[in-house]
Amino acid sequence: MADDTKPEQPSAPSTGATPQVQPKPAADAAATARAAAATGATPAAHAAKPAVPPKPAPVIPDLAGKTTNAASAGGQAAKASAPAAAKTATRDPDDTSPLLTRRAWLGLAWGAFSAASAAALAATGRFMFPNVLNEPPQQFKAGFPNEYGIGVDERWKEKFGVWLVRTTEDIEQHAAGFYALSVTCTHLGCTPNYLSAENKFKCPCHGSGFRITGVNFEGPAPRPLERVRVVLADDGQLLVDKSRHFQRELGQWTDPEAFLKA
Ligand code: FES
Repeated sequence: MADDTKPEQPSAPSTGATPQVQPKPAADAAATARAAAATGATPAAHAAKPAVPPKPAPVIPDLAGKTTNAASAGGQAAKASAPAAAKTATRDPDDTSPLLTRRAWLGLAWGAFSAASAAALAATGRFMFPNVLNEPPQQFKAGFPNEYGIGVDERWKEKFGVWLVRTTEDIEQHAAGFYALSVTCTHLGCTPNYLSAENKFKCPCHGSGFRITGVNFEGPAPRPLERVRVVLADDGQLLVDKSRHFQRELGQWTDPEAFLKA
């Protein structure tokens, strides 16, 4: 006997069609891909890739030393002002110099070093080109004896550094004639002046005085002026030769070439 209370099962349509079966997802994806390849459309599988989580926004330090996010208002402000701050912030964190930055001190040091190097180089270059002292010739012709009067003649003082003196009686040779005196003070080497009014040589440096014979008589000069060689040249002119000196304290004023009899 049939149970009438049993719920009625849906029966297949009488048309005989196959009951609808849910397709497998993998098979669907493959089919979609093939269809996309056939039509040139983007595969739906590509869009189905899992989404990559977004990277966190970079953290930018603001000028107050705090950290903030680039997306925040403070981060935007810090991002905008970061280049200017990087340009102006030239001090190192551990630089405690009160007036100048470490960079400025380094600049000064390099400048001083460069200046010192340049000065040393210039001094070395100067050393390579020493002063050239052009001394006058040691011998010169002083003209004819009759061109001179009695007394001190200063015409050769500046150029050749000698006084030519004509005397009627020499203290050593006891004759009339010529002698040539060096203009170098025997104290420390200054050049005395001839004082015609007092008929003497006076050194301006320390006050030494010399008579026209060359003998020292005042001041610190320890000895007489030196005489130099004077002879007659072949042409009859006076020839003065500074390469040979005669010192009275050594008895050299009696040398025949220390005095020219005339
Ligand atoms: S150098 Fe002439 S008195 Fe000193």
